[in-house]
Amino acid sequence: MTTLNEKRADLLVRATDPFNGGPTLEQLNAGSITPNDAFFVRNHGDIPEINPSDFRLTVNGMLYQPLALTLDDIKSLPAHTVTATLQCAGNRRVELATIAPIPNELEWDQEAISTAVWRGARLRDVLAQAGIDAGAGHVAMLGIDEIAKDGETFGFGGSIPLAKALHPDTLLAYEMNDAPLPPTHGYPLRALIPGYIGARSVKWLSQITAQAQPSDNYYQSVAYRLLPPDAQDEDAAVMLGELPLISVILSPAPNAVLASGDMQVQGYAYASERAVVRVDVSCDGGQTWRVARLLGEAERWAWRKWETTVQLAPGQHMLVVRAWDSAAQTQPEQIATVWNIKGYMNNAWHRVPIVVR
Ligand code: MTE
Repeated sequence: MTTLNEKRADLLVRATDPFNGGPTLEQLNAGSITPNDAFFVRNHGDIPEINPSDFRLTVNGMLYQPLALTLDDIKSLPAHTVTATLQCAGNRRVELATIAPIPNELEWDQEAISTAVWRGARLRDVLAQAGIDAGAGHVAMLGIDEIAKDGETFGFGGSIPLAKALHPDTLLAYEMNDAPLPPTHGYPLRALIPGYIGARSVKWLSQITAQAQPSDNYYQSVAYRLLPPDAQDEDAAVMLGELPLISVILSPAPNAVLASGDMQVQGYAYASERAVVRVDVSCDGGQTWRVARLLGEAERWAWRKWETTVQLAPGQHMLVVRAWDSAAQTQPEQIATVWNIKGYMNNAWHRVPIVVR
């Protein structure tokens, strides 16, 4: 089953069964909020069909009072709105694959990222109703969708540290951009874990478990971990959570042939838990830099669009972007230094070659 009927026909499609795809450069560059029909999709299995009146969210584990909540129960809690960017850990994998092969993974370019206004109940309000046991350190989440892999069938799940679950912007979301969650994006209920890899924002949420350790679900304990460069030492793998600082050029497109004169360079930058404080653009492969304008208002959990105007002489040019965050940190220069066998967390400088006539 594909989900194309919910989506624009011109999305960049990375897989059709299940459907995985995201916005084109032009769609990413169109504004600060991504419309639902252009928002990127990362599905590991088929979209489950859920009758909202049968829906129950089981809340169990290290709690004083296990709960089984209906959608109405969740909607009766105070509603909270968060503008947040969702980014897959595999965003920009295609650049990493130029260093060494990354087998059996989707070849995302810069489109496994989008931003929406999410509305829902706070996860912490549900946990407070249940009462958390002192030994709990993590909150595990499970989706209703089933994934068949290597002869086994299991649900999609993951976990976040308890402190993140208690953050006031961590949501059980039922609305996306003022509409009910579309089926592809987790209808009727999903987790929204701002600042964390998209995989932790579990869709079609069915169960929340307070527990001492991180989830042992495949998508927490095996996938979405960063292996060391030799890809051998499993014990040295890092479970992914917070996203790194990133920036991307959305316009001009790679290999564009442009007329000389004023030219706009535009893109996105995103800093997870921190703020984007500056974006630098180079037109000479990173030898000299100019400071770009940050556009719009800063939203705590959202990307920041930026632009700058340059004038370039005829010839070939290598545009490069790097961002700085509120801890005065910037991005690594070389893609090779962040390569890993699963192709996660590429936040190296983004390079776009162009030709000026
Ligand atoms: N939740 C469930 N139940 N099943 C999934 O396949 N994919 C995860 C996450 N939540 C997934 C899921 C991944 S890897 C990402 S990046 C985000 O959903 C993508 O969210 P989106 O499709 O709404 O953009």
